[in-house]
Amino acid sequence: QRILYVTSEMADYVKAGGLGDVSAALPRSLGQRYDVRVLIPGYRQVTSREEDIPVVARLPAAHGLPACELGRIDCPDGLTVYVILCPDLYDREGSPYGDESGADWADNDIRFGRLGLAAAQIAAGVPDLGWTPSLLHLNDWPSALGSAYVAWAGLQTPSVLTIHNLAYQGLFDPSRLPGLGVPDSAFGVEGVEFYGKLSFLKAGIVYASHVTTVSQTYAREITTPEFGCGLDGLLRKLDGEGRLTGILNGIDESWDPRTDRHLESPFDPNDLKGKKANADEVRREFGLAVSRGPLFAVVSRLVHQKGVDLTIESTESIVRQGGQVVVTGRGEERFERAMQKLAERYPAQVGVRIGFEEQRARRMFAGSDFLLMPSRFEPCGLSQMYAQRMGSLPIARQTGGLADTIKDGVTGFLFRDPSLGAMLSAIYRAVDAFGSRRKLNAMRRAAMSETYGWTRSAAGYCGVYDRALAGPSQ
Ligand code: ADP
Ligand code: GLC
Repeated sequence: QRILYVTSEMADYVKAGGLGDVSAALPRSLGQRYDVRVLIPGYRQVTSREEDIPVVARLPAAHGLPACELGRIDCPDGLTVYVILCPDLYDREGSPYGDESGADWADNDIRFGRLGLAAAQIAAGVPDLGWTPSLLHLNDWPSALGSAYVAWAGLQTPSVLTIHNLAYQGLFDPSRLPGLGVPDSAFGVEGVEFYGKLSFLKAGIVYASHVTTVSQTYAREITTPEFGCGLDGLLRKLDGEGRLTGILNGIDESWDPRTDRHLESPFDPNDLKGKKANADEVRREFGLAVSRGPLFAVVSRLVHQKGVDLTIESTESIVRQGGQVVVTGRGEERFERAMQKLAERYPAQVGVRIGFEEQRARRMFAGSDFLLMPSRFEPCGLSQMYAQRMGSLPIARQTGGLADTIKDGVTGFLFRDPSLGAMLSAIYRAVDAFGSRRKLNAMRRAAMSETYGWTRSAAGYCGVYDRALAGPSQ
């Protein structure tokens, strides 16, 4: 069977969060069972990286969406990536979603409408391409319109939509409908309308054959008003029909403290000595004082979802208990500023780097004792899995994928309420464990031995694909 995996991020080229990591790993893992190819927009990060991208097909204009060329990249490991070549839409300096100041691109409806339409055009069969997918796998709102275009064109190609984050829905003013070719009949509560707006994500949920999300707990949570972002009714209906499945993400093999070239010193569960050298290096890198106290790390988008306000509020208490905090992140300006203020106030105890740098993140996971991740909601979360692989114990809220990947008191510390008090009591427990070398090392070993490979997740997707391919009555 032939699967077209449609995504707006892929870590090979560009990553804004976990979706980039997943899109780089899952298609490769599924490649053993299916002929999986990836479709991504030809951002500057893609076209400037690859010298000559051969054009393999042309996709015609439709509605207000421009014609474009389809390029093909053959990755050295055998994965085929199709690239939508349309410089007017994608050849820009900035992230997939916005400019360098963080503001969303004003034409994101057209940019990602084009992505969804391209997927549907390829599903319909493109002359010269010689490859037609038997199933579309769409990811989050930027590619979600793909399943709607398939339906509106009367095609039978089944589609699977994975929700990596329900909070981002791709909402646009209804004045944009004609430019995207949304039929009038589809703009209603049974279709793509969400409180008077066009919702890309809802379109995907309504028209996809099957919806998945990235952990079992989050799959349950999004059917409740508290986590459902206004779509819980629709998701409950899907769940009742057996069309909503939670499949936990994996992490790839590069996250291994025995072999990671970016670390100061390798280490493994049976010989943790090397971890100290990494901790010293992180302290040096962030200009902190030499210390024997616990080192807490934050590697995160600095946004409300991640509970950054709780982290900021708890820092003083950590410092008072003899701990140090290192932060790498970027996001909302108010959080960036508050973090920087803490670093100015406690220069020997708190270090902050505003930015996105994966290698530094790797060193921080390896060097830290604990990872702070008090997310208000967390569909899956990858940072807590990376941290565990590197022997850093996550202190996290018991929600979504955090609840599914952290064993309280065994591989990390969980707390329930999104409150400072609850977070501080988890931090006290962590500092307490830090005081007992035996307990700490036992927990580190347990965390490092957890298996989070892609094989199990891939098996979950195989089940969903096979059902979607078998047709609606199955
Ligand atoms: P989300 O996708 O919601 O941001 P995840 O935990 O699933 O959360 O994935 C985030 C990914 O981005 C992880 O790989 C994490 O290590 C990485 N990351 C987040 N912020 C930074 C940063 N400032 N520098 C480097 N890596 C980061
Ligand atoms: C989203 C979620 C995160 C998840 C990632 C990959 O960005 O916020 O929890 O791990 O997608 O699925």
